[in-house]
Amino acid sequence: MKILFLTTAFNGMAQRAWLELDRLDHQVKVQIASNEVVMLTAVEEFQPNLIVAPFLKAKIPESIWRNHLCLIIHPGIVGDRGASSLDWAILNQEKEWGVTILEAAEKMDAGDIWASHNFPMRDTSKANLYRHEVAQAAMKGLLEAIDHKTNPSFCPTPLEYANPAVRGQWNRSIRQTDFQFSWEEKASHILRKIRAADSAPGVLIELFGAEYYAFGGHLEAEMQGQPGKVLARRDKAICIATGEQAIWLTHLKSSEEGAIKLPATFALGPEAEALPNLELSPFETKAKSTFREIRYEQEGEIGYLHFDFYNGAMDTDQCTRLRETIAEAKRRPIKMLVLMGGVDVWSNGIDLNQIEYAEYSNDEAWANIQAIDDLILEIIQSPNHYIMTALQGNAGAGGVAFALAGDKVVARKGVVLNPHTKNMGLYGSEYWTYLLPKRIGIEKATHFTEQCLPWGTAMAKEIGLLDDVFAETAVEFRRQVRELAQEIAALPYFDKLLLAKTFQRKKDERVKPLAKYREEELQRMWSNFYEDDQGFAEKRFHFVHKIYDPEQNQSVKDRDWYSSRRKIYRRRKWESIEYK
Ligand code: COA
Repeated sequence: MKILFLTTAFNGMAQRAWLELDRLDHQVKVQIASNEVVMLTAVEEFQPNLIVAPFLKAKIPESIWRNHLCLIIHPGIVGDRGASSLDWAILNQEKEWGVTILEAAEKMDAGDIWASHNFPMRDTSKANLYRHEVAQAAMKGLLEAIDHKTNPSFCPTPLEYANPAVRGQWNRSIRQTDFQFSWEEKASHILRKIRAADSAPGVLIELFGAEYYAFGGHLEAEMQGQPGKVLARRDKAICIATGEQAIWLTHLKSSEEGAIKLPATFALGPEAEALPNLELSPFETKAKSTFREIRYEQEGEIGYLHFDFYNGAMDTDQCTRLRETIAEAKRRPIKMLVLMGGVDVWSNGIDLNQIEYAEYSNDEAWANIQAIDDLILEIIQSPNHYIMTALQGNAGAGGVAFALAGDKVVARKGVVLNPHTKNMGLYGSEYWTYLLPKRIGIEKATHFTEQCLPWGTAMAKEIGLLDDVFAETAVEFRRQVRELAQEIAALPYFDKLLLAKTFQRKKDERVKPLAKYREEELQRMWSNFYEDDQGFAEKRFHFVHKIYDPEQNQSVKDRDWYSSRRKIYRRRKWESIEYK
């Protein structure tokens, strides 16, 4: 079938849908739906048998849906309508939610229903739900709908509110006032609102006399204080007292036009510097809920390292801390280390927002790439430990090479991998020129990185990029990872595994030293950063400001405008410290 995607962005959901349909040999074209004209032109030129909207914020023009079957992936249960389904579901504390595949029609989300799947809700952020349960249910529904399309006897179900099984309803678009809270409320109430608005639009709050959108909320069960008072900082997050308990916020975005999401202490500037810094070792056991990005646990001779970095972006400091933790874990009495990544995302490589914000972006990018390289080197050079990398969530750019540094690489079914960096104007480092061809050969490595397309787990396993793929949910994946780790550690020939890997490493080193790979990659990265030979500055700018199709979007302000806003913002922040 010829299938056209009309989508606001080729985001994780659109990529996953593309992978599923491509795997079934459908011919899929992706059109970023930046305005009506591009949608109409794409339909006219491609003449699709079916149109799918995996993530569409705009309306499909009537002339399209009247003449073509358009299926919309709607993140809501049957009968739910409106643009803020997940936000409302979290705010209303729904116990069960779902995804419905419905036909585009005159009234928004009121078209005939082609498929629908429900799932139990979890106490988590909207983005996390979207990347896990929603994506899984959407793919099930989409594949069913594609089957129905080829079945002449199939009739979609009209939406009938008179049917008692239809639980959903129309909900207006969410507003900031719906998220508003008072710091006197309980932490769990406030967290619900922050999670409903994460990753966008964030909840507007006031801190030290300025307004910010808040993201990355975590419960702090031990600390207390005057509600609204910022109590402490830890790893660039801040802790704020509420009426009962406290919350951590990892990220803030100033309400000033042109601002971007930043680690909370960066966004706050000097006020954050004055806060008490409550460091927490990854090795410390904490019974009560708190925030920490890196956490180590040990079961017998197996160490498990969890690292949950917001959006999988890893800044210089996070890479350094993670490397130090791995080095320390290896000094403990373990023979196997399992790198678990985050529940949401495994890793998306270096932190582009912080690089964009830095006063000297090139220097920051350079420091960040060195730090992630050092981290990966720490993993590759582990002769006395068997290292397994376990991807619960998606991985992008250098985050994929980072995963491949493990001796065994396993992933949850449905994870999406984007191993390329060309779209970002980068050659890439992270020892990818060693790690990728080592697993799949130089030809495939070149082909796939040049193509800049996402990879699904089925294909990744088929070509040997991943060793194994299992479990649909993160909970089930973690359970099976532990079982697998125990099996490996108990193998009677475990020592031989270590011998074999050490032997292979020595052999590889003789053929070409790791230092040489790094040097060659970094030479290219130097030109990318300091000579901007592949347009990194422009591409990064579009990425962090979410300008998906700059050529089509005339309302976008130019880079100089954003850059001047950023400079004013940064100067204002830091001048206030001198003033004090
Ligand atoms: N640095 C900072 N933020 C990042 C990031 C990075 N490396 N990678 C992803 N993010 C953020 C996005 O800005 C977005 O932020 P939001 O919460 O404000 O919406 C969020 O993570 C989700 O990213 P999104 O692009 O919507 O996810 P996706 O699943 O649609 O796409 C990728 C995944 C990996 C293709 C895409 O995020 C990407 O290209 N990331 C950049 C990777 C990169 O080039 N890294 C640098 C080289 S190592």
